[in-house]
Amino acid sequence: LFAQRAEFLKGVVAMDGLPPGDRLEICFAGRSNVGKSTLINALTGRKALARASNTPGRTQEINYFTLDPIYLVDLPGYGFAKAPVAVVAKWQALLKQYLAGRANLRRAFLLIDGRHGIKDVDEEIMALLGTAAVPFQVVLTKTDKPKPADLEAALAATRRKLAKYAAAYPELILTSSETGAGLDTLRATIAAMVSD
Ligand code: GTP
Ligand code: MG
Repeated sequence: LFAQRAEFLKGVVAMDGLPPGDRLEICFAGRSNVGKSTLINALTGRKALARASNTPGRTQEINYFTLDPIYLVDLPGYGFAKAPVAVVAKWQALLKQYLAGRANLRRAFLLIDGRHGIKDVDEEIMALLGTAAVPFQVVLTKTDKPKPADLEAALAATRRKLAKYAAAYPELILTSSETGAGLDTLRATIAAMVSD
């Protein structure tokens, strides 16, 4: 699957702009700045496919990428963002509509910063995914940053919090887009979903 070249398809600003749901899709969700866009670039081996930046609130549209035969979807972040309040409110509403209402969404990868663990805003999204019956799998990002002991603690705390969400996959994937750690595991996980 990942031997192919991923391409940008479109940026979507309203539910009626979503492409036809005729292929399986997976999305990357998480707080602003957690590393969603960077992870898509790292997974696809394309440095600037999805635009990333150090400013939280970089991705403001639902960005679709084709990786035949599926779509990869880069979402705007939730939580704090450096953007006008009205703009943030608009994309957060869209994000929730998308997560709860996209029939061909097979799995949401929920990105959690390996330094910070699960926050209340993440739990709100997990509850929403549970209500919508969208399976989700947690990906810890930026695992190159914390000290090993701090990463272990964040991992244990994340496992405890996840236990109460029926829609959550029990396996966590630890990644670093910086060192490449965990990327093969994540690619294999996605490839396995496509071939079932
Ligand atoms: P929004 O679109 O604003 O919601 O953010 P995002 O989740 O798409 O984050 P983005 O990919 O733009 O990355 C945010 C910042 O984190 C950038 O400065 C990245 O270089 C950095 N970053 C992302 N992944 C990693 C990682 O694995 N390790 C390290 N050290 N930095 C990372
Ligand atoms: Mg982004």
